[in-house]
Amino acid sequence: MLVNHQQYRTIWTSPVFGQGFSTELRTVEVIDQTKLPHVFEIAKIGNLQQMITAIKTMQVRGAPLIGAAAAYGVALATQQDSGDEYLQLAAKLLVQSRPTAVNLRWSVQRMLSVLLPLPVADRVRAAWAEAALICDEDILLNQAIGAHGLDLIRALYLKKSSTIHILTHCNAGWLATVDFGTALAPIYAAHDAGIDVHVWVGETRPRNQGASLTAWELGQHGVPHTVISDNAGGHLMQQGQVDMVIVGADRVTATGDVCNKIGTYLKALAAFDSSQSGHQVPFYAAVPSPTIDWAIEDGIQHIEIEERDGDELAWMSGRLADGTMATVNILPHGTKVANPAFDVTPARLVTGIITEQGVFAPNQLKTMKR
Ligand code: MRU
Repeated sequence: MLVNHQQYRTIWTSPVFGQGFSTELRTVEVIDQTKLPHVFEIAKIGNLQQMITAIKTMQVRGAPLIGAAAAYGVALATQQDSGDEYLQLAAKLLVQSRPTAVNLRWSVQRMLSVLLPLPVADRVRAAWAEAALICDEDILLNQAIGAHGLDLIRALYLKKSSTIHILTHCNAGWLATVDFGTALAPIYAAHDAGIDVHVWVGETRPRNQGASLTAWELGQHGVPHTVISDNAGGHLMQQGQVDMVIVGADRVTATGDVCNKIGTYLKALAAFDSSQSGHQVPFYAAVPSPTIDWAIEDGIQHIEIEERDGDELAWMSGRLADGTMATVNILPHGTKVANPAFDVTPARLVTGIITEQGVFAPNQLKTMKR
């Protein structure tokens, strides 16, 4: 996607030069998402431990991107020690680094299933190749999601013949993936196809991925958008100012329960209620197949919800009027804080799941080819 008119992915690799140079040795580079929207900075990640830190601190974030980053984490681990024991340990540490997004477990398992049958001497090269393949596949999945979602937006546009207002939550754009995004892929496709779309961007407390990341990337691509407080979504739906909701997901069950960034459930409830009382607001989740956990049926019972540090609520960072960055405390001293990072929207509130294979009603998800 475009940053200052230049094409970027969120993650890539570069060769390591210097002593003991080998064409196989690589380092990983990512767009540091903790610095956006004020500073565009590339972070270099040179070993497994640094990758785990980058995932935990959310320099890289978003379920598909975490999956890609974890695959590269395994590749970095092979450079340190390609033996079975170390790779198993690396896999365990990576999977534990963020528990909710299932893409992480999926990609790490895929890496192990490719690497462990190989002779140890072949593993470094194979690991870089497999991780690169996971990244390329992610892009293809997201482009297909974009095309299927575009059909939904186009159908609404043909009916309404004026601006289509789409509400989204958190960041499920290209920053959350290797490229194109999940929830934002249909929006980019619609915008590029000349459809008049406008995006309501929920700020997404506590980390403000909507305000900081979604607003930034939509702006880079020239898509009209407006940031709203998280609490404004229900009101806008009630007032008929939202034509559809599209969110991403961190894990979807085989029965179509959608686990996504905290606050998504409230958007789904408001969309459902608005639809009951006159303003149709279909609620879609855009989901590549690695985000589906086929082993789970009941998301509320069985998806582990990550509990993050309370400091994410207590402190806010931003740019002061003089241009310098600052972090300020907004809570009374000693206040207790709870910070669940995700919630589960039950399938009954979900209109459809936009996948690379097409749009499925939640109760039809099991008919997807696997
Ligand atoms: O905590 P994050 O920022 O890694 O959360 C993931 C998300 O950005 C969202 O929940 C998103 O909608 C799903 S990822 C495409």
